[in-house]
Amino acid sequence: MALDARRILARCDALAAHSEQPDGLTRIFLSPQQRAVNEQVLAWMREAGMQGRLDAIGNCVGRYEGTRAGLPCLMLGSHLDTVRDAGRYDGMLGVIAAIECVAALGGKRLPFAIEVVGFGDEEGVRFGSTLLGSRAVAGTFDSALLDKAGSDGVTLREALRAFGLDPGAIGTAAHRRGDVLAYVELHIEQGPVLEAEGLPVGVVTAINGGYRFMVEVAGVAGHAGTVPMSLRHDALVAAAECVVAVERVARDSRDVVGTVGRIEAQPGAMNVIPGRVRFSLDVRAPTDAQRAAALDAMRARFGAIAKARGVALALEPVWEARTAICDARLQSQLAEAVRGEGVAVRHLPSGAGHDGMALVDIAPIGMLFVRCKGGISHNPAESVTEDDVAIGARVLLRFIENFVAS
Ligand code: HGY
Ligand code: MN
Ligand code: MN
Repeated sequence: MALDARRILARCDALAAHSEQPDGLTRIFLSPQQRAVNEQVLAWMREAGMQGRLDAIGNCVGRYEGTRAGLPCLMLGSHLDTVRDAGRYDGMLGVIAAIECVAALGGKRLPFAIEVVGFGDEEGVRFGSTLLGSRAVAGTFDSALLDKAGSDGVTLREALRAFGLDPGAIGTAAHRRGDVLAYVELHIEQGPVLEAEGLPVGVVTAINGGYRFMVEVAGVAGHAGTVPMSLRHDALVAAAECVVAVERVARDSRDVVGTVGRIEAQPGAMNVIPGRVRFSLDVRAPTDAQRAAALDAMRARFGAIAKARGVALALEPVWEARTAICDARLQSQLAEAVRGEGVAVRHLPSGAGHDGMALVDIAPIGMLFVRCKGGISHNPAESVTEDDVAIGARVLLRFIENFVAS
């Protein structure tokens, strides 16, 4: 079956219909919408000639044997969950393009197996921690997370059980080092570089590491009408100064990005001075040293603000991932495949996080970026062209057919 970019895009549209958000796309881990998407993706995997199964944490796993059964695999894939009000290509494009490539092999067997994985939770929207599916596959899942509750109060353990999975069996999703020859992911760039340089695809050099925290600010709630400004310990104003400090430190530090994506003020009444605030903090950089230095500078600013305003402030770690370097040999094999399609090779880092940050613990990783319009992502306006998807899929197939394990 020839590669068909139109079919890839149509399948991304089909998966986008499974959303908890009536007017957009939101699909969180272990939701009814994920169950529907799993069934559809497993059916496409089987149609492509793979054995399809759900693993112990709810990832879709399609296996296509090599010249003999049981060979170590080249793992491909991406994630099937989304952020809130998401685009329809972040994650899904990589899973569907990989399935399309296996189907295009047309039954040809290679000296390695292929596994395509649709990871159930890369974004971490439901439980805060990200990469839950890929960490389970890498054997690095932290079982302490099972007792973490999402905003609906349901713990990961309860959500797994409700989904029909056994939280005690997550270890069976793990692949041993040696089972996976490499992990290679096709993904939209989610940035402006390829479009700015007129390129349809790019080869990723590294995935920037990141921290995520929830920051708790405790001040003194009070009557909005009676407490003079000079006597207030307003948690929200202190938090607002911290948010501006995050931007200032990130702007002043080369290649560092800092984001406060969520803020909640309690008690949340118009005539009450906020006594308690929680806000999220996401800090990333190309190197772990740059990231640590930026966080130290932010902590110092937060401390000075808290002291000046007489509030207490604490950072609760939610997640951290080191910068994941893409394997040099995989980069050159991907570059070879890009050249084979007559496209100039552009190497570039990924500011966004990806499942390769987990898989790098058990296998060399590689990534192929596909241009997306305006570099827009995590936004319903996310879009790709059929031509670029066709080139991306052809490059991936050429890479697969010429893959040589390290
Ligand atoms: O947040 C990220 O970088 C990724 O989209 N999960
Ligand atoms: Mn994303
Ligand atoms: Mn993604």
